[in-house]
Amino acid sequence: MEYVELNTKQKMPALGIGTWKSKKGEVGKAVKIALETGYRHIDCAYAYENEDEIGEILKETFDQGKIKREDIWITSKLWNIFHDPKDVQPICEKTIKDLQCGYLDLYLMHCPVCFEKRENLELFPRKDENTMSTVNIPLIETWHAMEKLVELGLVKSIGISNFTKEKIEEIYEKAKIKPVINQVENHPYLQQEELCQYCRKNGIQITAYSPLGTSDSKKEEDPSLLQDPVINEIAKKHNVSSAQILIKWQIQRGNTVIPKAVKPEHIKDNFDCQNIKLTEEDMKQIATLDRHFRFLNPLNFWNIDMYGEANKK
Ligand SMILES: NC(=O)c1ccc[n+]([C@@H]2O[C@H](COP(=O)([O-])OP(=O)(O)OC[C@H]3O[C@@H](n4cnc5c(N)ncnc54)[C@H](OP(=O)(O)O)[C@@H]3O)[C@@H](O)[C@H]2O)c1
Repeated sequence: MEYVELNTKQKMPALGIGTWKSKKGEVGKAVKIALETGYRHIDCAYAYENEDEIGEILKETFDQGKIKREDIWITSKLWNIFHDPKDVQPICEKTIKDLQCGYLDLYLMHCPVCFEKRENLELFPRKDENTMSTVNIPLIETWHAMEKLVELGLVKSIGISNFTKEKIEEIYEKAKIKPVINQVENHPYLQQEELCQYCRKNGIQITAYSPLGTSDSKKEEDPSLLQDPVINEIAKKHNVSSAQILIKWQIQRGNTVIPKAVKPEHIKDNFDCQNIKLTEEDMKQIATLDRHFRFLNPLNFWNIDMYGEANKK
């Protein structure tokens, strides 16, 4: 297992398993198989509505003494309706309780946008059919509340997700604790080299989400990374799957990466990517595939321009 060292000196496993859209009744089994396969990093979130089932498996694993808590990296995320500083600690505690893990290795602000918090805690409160109901809470206020979680020992480190350079600048200078991670969409069609370099320069590690092209949320007309001829050709040359090439490419670029899988054969296939070594020529060829294409753009489903200028590049 490869690890990357963060600005906190924590060692984070470069490969983790994603759990978004992993359904109830499936997610627990998937995490169990992942742990048995050798994964030591699980990417969770309140908004995935499955943390309780993951928690059952974690408890069972720790009770059996097979794997110790400190041997697993657990990430979760603060959902957009909980940006009010007074909500941050209670909702983080709920996640820790659901995951039955005692503390989190990493807690991310899920998005640089705050939604209205309604009594029924609906995750996606809408103003009308096409528009989310947002509230203006400065990101730095939420960030300061997240810093307290570190001081309280609830989380080891804090980070951000879906932040552009401009959004990072809104918090960076005033932050007492600098973000350790920016978790963003990243794959050969959206390489975000400029953002990756900016983050690295500022001690922020990139975690790549949707590294396989998010087939659970992909639209019919979207391009398919897993069927890309260049990726397929490189996979054929190494006698491995295209998914393995896409995941290993992230690790070789220095990113951490969290492919989601519930099928046992996918979970194992993705883990085995660690045995591959891409050549310089492979890396160069993959670099040519960038087309600034987002599979997940909030402009399309929330009517929120979360990426501003970065959307236009
Ligand atoms: N911070 C954020 O805002 C954010 C946003 C999106 C995602 N994420 C995180 O990133 C994770 C990954 O992103 P994602 O879920 O969008 O998509 P992804 O990992 O790019 O793709 C997941 C899809 O690929 C399939 N798959 C997995 N391994 C495969 C293999 N070896 N061969 C063929 N197909 C394979 C999965 O199938 P099966 O499941 O059927 O095995 C699933 O349909 C999420 O689960 C979540 O943890 C974070």
